[in-house]
Amino acid sequence: MSLNAAPTDLTGKVALVTGASGGIGASAVAHFSALGATVFATDIAASFEGDANYRSFDLLDDAGLSACCDWVKEIKPDILFNNAALFDMGSVLDAGDLAQMDRLFGVNVRAFYAVMQATAQSMVANSQHGSIINMASQAGHRGEALVAHYCATKAAVVSYTQSTALALAPHKIRVNAISPGVIDTPMWETVDALFAKFEGKEIGQKKREVGDAVPLGYMGDPSDVARAAVFLASDQSAYMTAQTIGVDGGNVLR
Ligand SMILES: NC(=O)c1ccc[n+]([C@@H]2O[C@H](COP(=O)([O-])OP(=O)(O)OC[C@H]3O[C@@H](n4cnc5c(N)ncnc54)[C@H](O)[C@@H]3O)[C@@H](O)[C@H]2O)c1
Repeated sequence: MSLNAAPTDLTGKVALVTGASGGIGASAVAHFSALGATVFATDIAASFEGDANYRSFDLLDDAGLSACCDWVKEIKPDILFNNAALFDMGSVLDAGDLAQMDRLFGVNVRAFYAVMQATAQSMVANSQHGSIINMASQAGHRGEALVAHYCATKAAVVSYTQSTALALAPHKIRVNAISPGVIDTPMWETVDALFAKFEGKEIGQKKREVGDAVPLGYMGDPSDVARAAVFLASDQSAYMTAQTIGVDGGNVLR
């Protein structure tokens, strides 16, 4: 019998976190760092308060995305937490729909893919047996009337995770995704305000309702997702690839 006594130790690993200023990203930076990884972080904001080497890139901008991918190749990450995303919603009957589609697919799919590709190329070039962790969502497993584009982007994350995992398996690089349910982060201020606008709810009402509806009875904390990311980043999950793990208090049954 073999027993790994320190299975989540990330000492000596280089981790890259995108969307690092957000609720889940900031928690992942703190967890990776606490477990010994050297953490590089990026987001759109000019500055960053966490414990990481930070660079600002706008992933919706071609020059920003390309510069970020160049940076990935300098960093040579062993772990990618591919987390940056935008949320928006609206009816399919809305004339402004395609502009929203372009923004959401631009960050949540195009930039997500480009950063994952740059990381994979770097890992292969440097013979690193790395771990890529993509942020999907429960929204990627079931459509919602007013959330078509966001749901579609997250379904794409699940699909890209599977294809990329199969392509990288011969290189001993693992690719998995996490599908959070409802996690209490700054994104929820946007989500709650949009549901107030589109469904005539009071501010705070949607957030209360979704928390109450979770089988465990409350919204998740960003650290609930970060711990799953640590598991997927570490050797603890050495035999897992191409999977999407739900971290959702029981919301989605697979
Ligand atoms: N909070 C939830 O309930 C929930 C549920 C399911 C999935 N998720 C997913 O988890 C991930 C993290 O979400 P969060 O709740 O921490 O959200 P968040 O809004 O707090 O963080 C997302 C981060 O992405 C960054 N980002 C957005 N557009 C960018 C751009 N153009 N360039 C660079 N960075 C950009 C934002 O600045 C932000 O810091 C996302 O992929 C989200 O879709 C969240």
